[in-house]
Amino acid sequence: MASITLEQVNKVYPGGYHAIKDLNLEIADGELMVLVGPSGCGKTTTLRMVAGLEEVTSGTLRIGDRVVNGLEPKERDIAMVFQNYALYPHMSVAENIGFALRLQNLPKSTIAQRVHDASEILGITDILNKKPRQLSGGQRQRVAMGRAIVREPSIFLMDEPLSNLDAKLRVKMRAEVKLIQERLGVATIYVTHDQMEAMTLGDRVAVLRNGELLQCTTPHDLYFNPVDTFVATFIGSPAMNLLEAVVDRTSASLVVGSQKIALSDETAKRLAGATHVTLGIRPEHFFLEDVPNSAGLVAEVKLVEELGYEQMVHFDLDAKIVRGHGESEDATNDIYGGRTARIAGSGELKQRDRVTLHFKWSDVYLFDAATGIALP
Ligand SMILES: Nc1ncnc2c1ncn2[C@@H]1O[C@H](COP(=O)(O)OP(=O)(O)OP(=O)(O)O)[C@@H](O)[C@H]1O
Ligand SMILES: [Mg+2]
Repeated sequence: MASITLEQVNKVYPGGYHAIKDLNLEIADGELMVLVGPSGCGKTTTLRMVAGLEEVTSGTLRIGDRVVNGLEPKERDIAMVFQNYALYPHMSVAENIGFALRLQNLPKSTIAQRVHDASEILGITDILNKKPRQLSGGQRQRVAMGRAIVREPSIFLMDEPLSNLDAKLRVKMRAEVKLIQERLGVATIYVTHDQMEAMTLGDRVAVLRNGELLQCTTPHDLYFNPVDTFVATFIGSPAMNLLEAVVDRTSASLVVGSQKIALSDETAKRLAGATHVTLGIRPEHFFLEDVPNSAGLVAEVKLVEELGYEQMVHFDLDAKIVRGHGESEDATNDIYGGRTARIAGSGELKQRDRVTLHFKWSDVYLFDAATGIALP
């Protein structure tokens, strides 16, 4: 078992594309680190460098105390699980799992024991004699995991291992991966572009964009203290509402479109040096009751999606829409313009209602309008 350390790591592909820029990342022994970010941000590149399948252009890569920059993949004592975990079709499950061990010429009894142990952990002892084509998607995924586990590596690398599964199975396997990783206690880098998977799996989550590490912290901290509007809108679904706002110091209020909202003392203090800001409110932080110390935005309901336990309310108001910093024009994941409120209960609102959506200042996120960076 070992930790993984990346120090000032850069990757420039032949042809000149700078895929990873000055990446610093440390994964503790036993930790599950998730790399998340949009397509093309450099997740797979990072993983392949750690695996030794891709050369590090500059910087230092350590596994435990060893600098591994120059080592071949097989000298690094790692196991990988990919998205396309091609199993050998003519081999049984047991043979698939034990394949790497047979290549190492280990005694038959040792191989049998380790295949048995791995399949126990994965709950697949009853399918060891089957062929891959006789298995469900989830079972195949477990066999692929088995091939990695059986090698007893000092680190695990997983690249979107669940993306071939249907939504329901993904959720189930996600929980299993988490439990298995905890049980094995092996440092793991898990790559996904799914923020939900990142949040539920990771001890810590590293958010990448364009080859740069934006933030690396616990899921809790990522949700409550995003460094900028990109991370703020990337984490959480539906995405955080971002509204253009101007601080009016004389009336101690925030001007959002044609509306003026009185600031709390605390928020006025936070906004002391600012004029143009982006106001961020998560959909789940809106409510309808006018409780003491809440603020409100008047909005028009465009569409209501009735979920039974809550209403997903798409609303409109006359404030300019703001996108996550560095996001492309079409990146908004809400066809109604990125303004949503999740209102607990059923039947509270209907289309074309004019409502006041209340929120607490303590739940609000504030960003510099020009840079998108979170205000302290
Ligand atoms: N062999 C290569 N040569 C040149 N450029 C490459 C090569 N492999 C990847 N890239 C580029 O490097 C960037 C990062 O690619 P990478 O595969 O690491 O992204 P990713 O974050 O894993 O994306 P996805 O979520 O789509 O899998 C991309 O812009 C990609 O086009
Ligand atoms: Mg990838």
